Amino acid sequence: MRVLVTGGAGFIGSQVVAALAARGHDPVVLDALLPAAHPEPPPLPDAEWIHADVRDRAATARALRGVDAVCHQAAMVGLGKDFADAPEYVGCNDLGTAVLLAAMAEAGVTELVLAGSMVVYGEGRYDCPRHGQVRPGPRAAADLTAGRFEPLCRECGAELTPGLVGEDAGMDPRNVYATTKLAQEHLAAAWARATGGRAVALRYHNVYGPGMPRDTPYAGVASFFRSALERGEAPRVFEDGRQRRDFVHVGDVADANAIALEAVRGREPGALSAYNTGSGTPHTVGEMAAVLAAAHGGPSPVVTGEFRLGDVRHITADSRRLRAELGWNSQVGFAEGMAEFATSGLRGAVG
Ligand SMILES: NC(=O)c1ccc[n+]([C@@H]2O[C@H](COP(=O)([O-])OP(=O)(O)OC[C@H]3O[C@@H](n4cnc5c(N)ncnc54)[C@H](O)[C@@H]3O)[C@@H](O)[C@H]2O)c1
Ligand SMILES: [Zn+2]
Repeated sequence: MRVLVTGGAGFIGSQVVAALAARGHDPVVLDALLPAAHPEPPPLPDAEWIHADVRDRAATARALRGVDAVCHQAAMVGLGKDFADAPEYVGCNDLGTAVLLAAMAEAGVTELVLAGSMVVYGEGRYDCPRHGQVRPGPRAAADLTAGRFEPLCRECGAELTPGLVGEDAGMDPRNVYATTKLAQEHLAAAWARATGGRAVALRYHNVYGPGMPRDTPYAGVASFFRSALERGEAPRVFEDGRQRRDFVHVGDVADANAIALEAVRGREPGALSAYNTGSGTPHTVGEMAAVLAAAHGGPSPVVTGEFRLGDVRHITADSRRLRAELGWNSQVGFAEGMAEFATSGLRGAVG
């Protein structure tokens, strides 16, 4: 199968390219090598590749020639520097997706796997002892400043128990990036309905592993900690370190993409199906920092109480649907994966 991997020079995309090649497919890469993602030129993809922006309709149309399916990884990621980044996020992620889908419709390419994200949910799942399953709203700056990190029940103010979020949970994007990731899914669903296409969105949780970018404003928390350790500094853990996440290894995410690309042909035409893509075993951010520091042989983490307003408290995945329907399984455990990540290379220059 010939697969166009947009963003195929990136952290996850490059591993998707490798996974596809290993399974006997023929990947072709389109990547703009965004300076925010690549402070230094990355190793060139080990595949046929086109240096172009997905918003460039002509280049994208050329890249689609002879292609059976598209794996759309290209996006601006992370929280960015400030709100001034919003037009660039919306441009890359949503205009980019619209241009790609229009070109696919024109070329008659009907199979799509989209890199989705858990950020579409906002906060994860919570249960109140009195009100059952509830959705807490955004946390107030005053609460966070005072060290009150746990969201409470909006009805009765009770403490909540965090659980695993399923794909049918409500959508509640909390920042510009999250909004663009949700819009990508809606665009893909609209494209599928309008063209009879088939789409799978893999909602990745916190992806980590070799080749992760260094600590730019666009990177994830595992990369901040890993970069600090490389500088000989202690990882600085925000809030009280007890925020829960699902850390999933990039190799597992790449496999999920390859499996989804092979399965998408058999899916219902005209629809998008979404799958959480997480390891299934939540860990706290503080735990992750401690395991990384120990494996790196660096200073122990410092819990700072700092916070970022756009962050949610707990978000962990129920990934049973991906296992049951597509037969995917996470292969890399937390301890093993973090030990490898503690010493493997990061991408790009230290800021
Ligand atoms: N890393 C995570 O934890 C995580 C979690 C959830 C979802 N995702 C999603 O996974 C995908 C890949 O993310 P990543 O972590 O590998 O990031 P990355 O920055 O390493 O890779 C993204 C790649 O896309 C390219 N790109 C961006 N905009 C482009 C455009 N307009 N045209 C062409 N190329 C463009 C960049 O140059 C880069 O090579 C993204 O869609 C992201 O939203 C990542
Ligand atoms: Zn309640």
